Amino acid sequence: MNAPPKSLISTSASAQCAPIFKALQSRQLPLSRRAFSTTSQQRHGHVTPPKAGEELWVTFIDKDGEEHKFAVSAGDNLLDIAQANDLEMEGACGGSCACSTCHVIVEGEDHYDKMPEPEDDENDMLDLAFGLTETSRLGCQVKMTKELDGLVVRLPSMTRNLQASDFQ
Ligand code: FES
Repeated sequence: MNAPPKSLISTSASAQCAPIFKALQSRQLPLSRRAFSTTSQQRHGHVTPPKAGEELWVTFIDKDGEEHKFAVSAGDNLLDIAQANDLEMEGACGGSCACSTCHVIVEGEDHYDKMPEPEDDENDMLDLAFGLTETSRLGCQVKMTKELDGLVVRLPSMTRNLQASDFQ
């Protein structure tokens, strides 16, 4: 039986990788010649324009006490509605219930009681929200329904985002 070619005989991993690294390094462009590229920013705020006669109304009260009333469609959530209308609602986690920057305070217990109960994930995030109240919800978790027509929510004066240090 013939012996395997020398190139297939394993030496040490670093010895095998060294030529590859060298080749890769030689292909690197100097900093001044590297292309600069960006990825288009993904914003939320994808809302469906309401059909005539099917509008639901929601009012946001901003941090300055100013009211902003919008006609929206059933199924749109409060985070998307706020962002589509350039209101100051960050939504740092992209609506995945992993932050509290979409915290809203529901004005009036009527509407609050008509909302489905918050899931455990939402409650966990709400516990960390700045200025938590009895009628606090996360905007990304509240979808507009016929029952919520006329809803009024207040944006808290501050929001608190989570950082790695919060879990230490
Ligand atoms: S956007 Fe992060 S929890 Fe709503």
